[in-house]
Amino acid sequence: MDIKIPNHVAIIMDGNGRWAQERGLSRSDGHLAGVNNLEKLAEYIFDRGVKVLSIFAFSTENFKRSKEEVDFLMKLFIKFFKTKFKNLKKKNIKIVFSKKESGLPEEVEKAIKKMEKETENNTAGIFNICVNYGGHSEIVDVAKKISESVLEGKIKVNEIDEKTIEQNLYQTLPPIDLLIRTSGEYRISNFMLWQLAYAEMYFPKTYFPAFDEKEFDKALEAYSHRDRRFGGIKK
Ligand code: FPP
Repeated sequence: MDIKIPNHVAIIMDGNGRWAQERGLSRSDGHLAGVNNLEKLAEYIFDRGVKVLSIFAFSTENFKRSKEEVDFLMKLFIKFFKTKFKNLKKKNIKIVFSKKESGLPEEVEKAIKKMEKETENNTAGIFNICVNYGGHSEIVDVAKKISESVLEGKIKVNEIDEKTIEQNLYQTLPPIDLLIRTSGEYRISNFMLWQLAYAEMYFPKTYFPAFDEKEFDKALEAYSHRDRRFGGIKK
């Protein structure tokens, strides 16, 4: 069977903590292993021909974790956004962020802006990093933006359609074809709710730090066997 390459892949990178625990390491070690894996994996995914990759790096709900863990992750973001993903930049990948307008430490926001600016003219693919992100809050923010446009007379209520929603999401991206959530949990957890409408789901048992190139190829193989009908009738 021919391997089909999804245009847009999304990954919920779950299981860093459990991966570390099984090795007698700290949760922070698990996140570090996760992000190191992500750097290699993202490159491989674009090399396989995927055009858009979305990842769930930090949810609006993740702020409920211990201060120690949140602080560690924020420092990790600053370091990685500032100094890593060099190969992706070289490969002409545009890096964008899906996030609430406020809530992240100033230094993280600065690193984000820098990375977006550095890659804004890249055209080979899009790497969408969801940080301080929640699917519900994205939809609430869309409602606010469209309401403002109506009040300003830029659009009429009866002109609002699916395109209007898409154009007002944090990023306007093609629909997700394949969602992968590692670690054996079968949930979407408030991730990209609008964009996932017709996505195929793949839930490997592997923890994210161990979800490598071979594991991704298995996901592609599973995806290639899926019969996508988008609500239509099987031909
Ligand atoms: C879920 O594992 C993981 C997270 C909440 C954070 C994921 C973040 C990274 C891999 C770092 C991303 C970094 C950059 C720079 C984009 P968990 O902690 O919930 O694991 P557990 O369920 O086993 O406890």
